[in-house]
Amino acid sequence: MTKVPLIYLVSSFLALNQASLISRCDLAQVLQQEDLDGFEGYSLSHWLCLAFVESKFNISKINENADGSFDYGLFQINSHYWCNDHKSHSENLCHVDCQDLLNPNLLAGIHCAKRIVSGAGGMNNW
Ligand SMILES: *[C@@H]1O[C@H](CO)[C@@H](O)[C@H](O)[C@H]1NC(C)=O
Repeated sequence: MTKVPLIYLVSSFLALNQASLISRCDLAQVLQQEDLDGFEGYSLSHWLCLAFVESKFNISKINENADGSFDYGLFQINSHYWCNDHKSHSENLCHVDCQDLLNPNLLAGIHCAKRIVSGAGGMNNW
């Protein structure tokens, strides 16, 4: 068997990355791996619905709000409270750079989403 040159792997990854959409099944797998199924009482289907409603599974989605803050990534996490976008005042409660919430590995966003859902309102915080 011949080895696949690294450049092909990298460019196909970049092509996927450009598309910025993650499939429902791939997302379910990552969420499961990161122990979100049942986290704070929310099943995997709750998390999938949240991601779909917020971003239509677009991992690089950025949306500007009326107050000048921005929502980032799959879970549309807000820069006013949760991440630092270096543009406007932020509480930065997740101690994360907003750009990291767009990373295709999804880890920073999942970590921050866990923090948000752990607050009093649970998923109503979205
Ligand atoms: C994903 O979001 C980015 C940033 O908001 C946007 O430029 C891009 O067109 C979106 N991709 C899809 C497939 O909707």
